[in-house]
Amino acid sequence: MRISIIGCGAIGSAIARAIDKKIIPAKLAGIYDLDSSKINKLYSHLKTKPTISKNLRDAMKSCDLVVECASQNAVKEIFKLSCNLKKDIFVLTVGALIVHPEILKKAKKYNFKIYFPSGAIVGLDGINALNIEKNKIKSVTLTTTKPPKSLGFKKCIKRKVVFYGTAEEAVKKYPANINVCATLALSSIGAKRTKVQIVVDPKIKSNKHEIEVISDFGRFTTKTENVPSKENPRTSYLAILSAISALKQLCS
Ligand SMILES: NC(=O)c1ccc[n+]([C@@H]2O[C@H](COP(=O)([O-])OP(=O)(O)OC[C@H]3O[C@@H](n4cnc5c(N)ncnc54)[C@H](O)[C@@H]3O)[C@@H](O)[C@H]2O)c1
Repeated sequence: MRISIIGCGAIGSAIARAIDKKIIPAKLAGIYDLDSSKINKLYSHLKTKPTISKNLRDAMKSCDLVVECASQNAVKEIFKLSCNLKKDIFVLTVGALIVHPEILKKAKKYNFKIYFPSGAIVGLDGINALNIEKNKIKSVTLTTTKPPKSLGFKKCIKRKVVFYGTAEEAVKKYPANINVCATLALSSIGAKRTKVQIVVDPKIKSNKHEIEVISDFGRFTTKTENVPSKENPRTSYLAILSAISALKQLCS
């Protein structure tokens, strides 16, 4: 499998290194970022040098699977090109699939696949099992607690709820911070029905995600306390590992 990585930040670089170390059995066909310093830094750390793509189209043309690790805008641009180039897409900025619902609809019509990893949460195996029988999940709630800085709050001295609403509203308000709610919503009852609460707490250093699922077949809760990645404190290290693990499976 030939992979091109779009976005050479914390996640994109870690995936590229995992390909370089043969943890993911794939060929790194291209790397692309809007910021050339990010490309150069990643390139210098790789033993097997990939092509530095001139632009997004070039990166996409040279691969079988496009791995997006960039932004909601990037997902939109990749999707537009994929309608012609028919490339499968592995998406990290999962919130984009909710903000632009046409992406999932048209991918089916134009016959290319969209994948996303479990990210910084656990429990999707239980949700997938519940999905075997239709309409049995009654409610899904995510409570995410983060250090105030990671959401841009500078003067916060005590724990407070800063958002309560649907997953659809959450990914629009926090496009770079709450992709896990999109992953959860797309895997369960959709973005309009999945409830999200975001809390900031100056006493914590980890990103905490608590999920409650109520269904006809019982109730379960999961709790994840994630160490942030060193390169990007907004990104949990588990999200990086989940992407590497999913790509390893996809390419094996
Ligand atoms: N699915 C999940 O659970 C999960 C978890 C953490 C982060 N994310 C998302 O994954 C994405 C990458 O995260 P990260 O920690 O690597 O971020 P990062 O900020 O470290 O890196 C993102 C890189 O993408 C580049 N970029 C942005 N827009 C681009 C575009 N249109 N074309 C090309 N390059 C572009 C930036 O220059 C930057 O180098 C973010 O959107 C983030 O919100 C998802």
